[in-house]
Amino acid sequence: MVRLTKDLIGVVSEEELSAKVAEGREMRGRLANDAMTGWVDLPVDYDREGFARIKAAVGKIQSDSKYLVCIGIGGSYLGARAIIEALGNKSATKVLYAGNSLSGRELEKVLTEVGEADFSVNVISKSGTTMEPAIAFRILRQKLVDKYGEEGAARRIYATTDAARGALHDEAVEKGYEMFVVPDDVGGRYSVLSSVGLLPIAVAGIDIDELMAGAAEEREGLMSAEGGEAVEYAAARNVLMAHGYDIEVLANFEPSFWHFNEWWKQLFGESEGKGHKGIFPAGMIYTTELHSMGQYMQDGRRNLFETVVKITTDGVDVVVPDLADNVDGLAYLQGKSLGLINKKALLATVEAHTAGGVPVMMVEMPEISARTLGALVYFFEYACAISGYLLGVNPFDQPGVEAYKQNMFRLLGKPE
Ligand code: PA5
Repeated sequence: MVRLTKDLIGVVSEEELSAKVAEGREMRGRLANDAMTGWVDLPVDYDREGFARIKAAVGKIQSDSKYLVCIGIGGSYLGARAIIEALGNKSATKVLYAGNSLSGRELEKVLTEVGEADFSVNVISKSGTTMEPAIAFRILRQKLVDKYGEEGAARRIYATTDAARGALHDEAVEKGYEMFVVPDDVGGRYSVLSSVGLLPIAVAGIDIDELMAGAAEEREGLMSAEGGEAVEYAAARNVLMAHGYDIEVLANFEPSFWHFNEWWKQLFGESEGKGHKGIFPAGMIYTTELHSMGQYMQDGRRNLFETVVKITTDGVDVVVPDLADNVDGLAYLQGKSLGLINKKALLATVEAHTAGGVPVMMVEMPEISARTLGALVYFFEYACAISGYLLGVNPFDQPGVEAYKQNMFRLLGKPE
């Protein structure tokens, strides 16, 4: 479903690319054997009982809550937010986000928005010990207890965590919260298609069967084509890096994809940025940022390449109206849709950037829907794993994120 095209402006020779693609195909075998690769089969081999419980919980939340506060950080929330914002919150229950920073101002905004309304909480933490969500949960749990009492609060808390350990797991067991399991062999940034992403996505009224079906279709396509265009993408970015192109910009022409960019940045940044290696992933929303970062993209240091997400059809559109006079000089656009104008802007940008020395790859999907987003998520996860292998790093660990935590614990006086 996801198609890749590219114009690498002659930086990479066909021979170099084919050799890297062949290497990438060889790496695919590791996905069957390495630890933390449970996400590979998740679209077809998932916990059916857990999936049914998610749907039942969604029904309850949608009937008794105006808000679901989704508490989590990094891989425990970005995937859900990426999908919900790209497709829009379609149900009467609105998903809010907390515990993804240590900002009191942000948490206060959530508390104010919830106000006196009925709400539930989905606290998501694989380790069950991450400080940001743990603090937010403590505060929101108290708000639930104040409003509904201990037992009523427990019936409105959904804990997504490890099956057997961690502070959140232990609390959920002790207090009787409904629990959903983060599979042992699926890391945070690869977990959107597990209960981590599926519960909040479904509460927002998005069809999770379609999401999984799209991912399954993409998986099937990649499996039957030796990793297909995902391996090609992984190979191209590694060869580009070897030629000094060590910044990749994911460019989307839909502002609602801002959090998709964030999800993608985490996926690639946390998977590849280790051992002093890795492409630096950046995200941009065009045409908005063509008016701020466009100058750099066109004419700054030539160490970056661009991956453009292109949607071929529009679901929603607005047409430029006719005017009796041509006072704004836009008569040539009359009757044209913004979808068409946006597409022309995309083509114009690719033409300008390639001419300006930026290699461009284009990831194309037919529409914005749960199905295509499932496919896109799977495409990037698969490509990211292969890309990490080609780079010579473990794409499933993140040892570097501990450093700031240890310093923060010391500064806050955490007991040993
Ligand atoms: O991808 C990852 O592993 C991280 O982004 C984690 O998801 C993030 O740090 C949150 O961890 P946890 O789910 O244990 O609270």
